[in-house]
Amino acid sequence: MRMNVRDIQIAYTDRGSGIPLVFLHGFPLNRDAWSKQVDAFRIAFRVIVPDLRGFGESESSRGAVSMSCFAEDLLTLLQHLKTGPIILVGHSMGGYIALAFAKAFPQMLRGLVLVGTKAAADSPEAAEARRGTAEKVRLEGVSVVVDPMAVKMLSSSNTDSAMASSVRALMTSSKSEGLVSALLGMAERQDAGAWLETITVPTLIITGADDMIIPPGESEVLAKAIPNATLKVIPEAGHLVAFEQADAFNEILREWFSLPSSVTLGPSFESSSNQQ
Ligand code: MLT
Repeated sequence: MRMNVRDIQIAYTDRGSGIPLVFLHGFPLNRDAWSKQVDAFRIAFRVIVPDLRGFGESESSRGAVSMSCFAEDLLTLLQHLKTGPIILVGHSMGGYIALAFAKAFPQMLRGLVLVGTKAAADSPEAAEARRGTAEKVRLEGVSVVVDPMAVKMLSSSNTDSAMASSVRALMTSSKSEGLVSALLGMAERQDAGAWLETITVPTLIITGADDMIIPPGESEVLAKAIPNATLKVIPEAGHLVAFEQADAFNEILREWFSLPSSVTLGPSFESSSNQQ
């Protein structure tokens, strides 16, 4: 499906009915990274998965795309889809966007799931390196980021070459202009650490024990700072934990959804099913 969202066309998946459960992919991926979650959760939820601006089948725009811009795209998409408040799951860059969304539009959240991500901004050196990478991608293409990242997406103990090829294919299909814009946007993103304590919705934090791109320690920082947060570490999983260990990941989500009655996911479950 496609929809005009602000100045571009956004491609997205919208399956099932019930509480809206939205997944945001990381860099340099697209909505297919969540295919195993769409299949698992469309039975019980309304699962919405966009290709972020510049990724997958969505159109690109020129210049840096800030995490706030991605978050505003999401809000506009959700308003068009008349979802009401959502449970938002963000992986890595999708997690940076989920945090920007949580800060800007807290009334639109009923639960937050942060996967293989972090609150910290880039150091000045890291931001400078990212801008250099953006320039290289502009000149040489997507292999500049795909080659060094592809080997780090899965656990180093993973010997499944078919899975490694699928992950590489997901990354290689990216368009260089989208990657450049997102790299520039990530380089300028704000540090979320100062306001994590203001997040009031139930929050689940998931990391792969073998994540080499955003180490599990970053998830521990998030879990300590966000009130009501639960941390889960999945063994034998790297950065793309939801794809690599989909069964374990989906099971953790399922368990978390059946929260004790003392903890509700924002507005009550009953009222949510009327918001479609
Ligand atoms: C991602 O997986 O989205 C990126 O590795 C995040 C980043 O580069 O900071």
